[in-house]
Amino acid sequence: MNDPLPLLVANLKANKTWEEMSFWLDQVAPIVEKFTGTVIVCPSSAFLASTHQKLQTQNSKLQTGGQDISRFEQGAYTGEVAASQIANLCQYAIIGHSERRQNFGETDEILTLKVQNAKSAGIEPIFCIQTEKDAIPEGVEIVAYEPTFAIGTGVPDSPENAKGLAEEIRQKDHFTVIYGGSVSAENVNLFLQKDVIDGVLVGATNSLDSKNFIQILEKAAY
Ligand code: PGA
Repeated sequence: MNDPLPLLVANLKANKTWEEMSFWLDQVAPIVEKFTGTVIVCPSSAFLASTHQKLQTQNSKLQTGGQDISRFEQGAYTGEVAASQIANLCQYAIIGHSERRQNFGETDEILTLKVQNAKSAGIEPIFCIQTEKDAIPEGVEIVAYEPTFAIGTGVPDSPENAKGLAEEIRQKDHFTVIYGGSVSAENVNLFLQKDVIDGVLVGATNSLDSKNFIQILEKAAY
């Protein structure tokens, strides 16, 4: 990826009303201006357009990402959001999050289609894997290592284990590798290590409350 590191991703999942989202952006966006890396907020797809518009009006450095992308391109797929429909609203999209794999039956084949659609639309996938054995589709540049035991539990992987895994993943290709799972202001710097772990993915545990996410932002550095 071309954006500066470290990379901080806030995955807000299916949370917040637009009023709450707007408040979150008002709190976080000014802090992002002082951050030397890249910060991406992934709101519910319901708010991708309004988030993008608000950040553009403010000429903000805070970038927008989707939380998913359809495996289909535009057509008769009720309820789906095609990559080409959000390509002008977000530069990135999370693909293969464990919650999608578990709750929506997303298989390696489906995830490969999603990555292909994202890439064709010019969206950079942030591809989540849960173990080093998970398949990484061709074209992926950013890999998020997110062990399921650490997601939403307050119990992160050990930084040593996460670094070992990040190194294994890097041996496969020139990936940007980030870590996700119970990242907090207290532990973020134990994970960030230049050329090993390039960033963090922060889910509901510490991204929903803007104060918690700002604390992570203020601490995050190599
Ligand atoms: P968490 O979630 O930070 O709440 O553990 C991480 C994720 O779901 O990506």
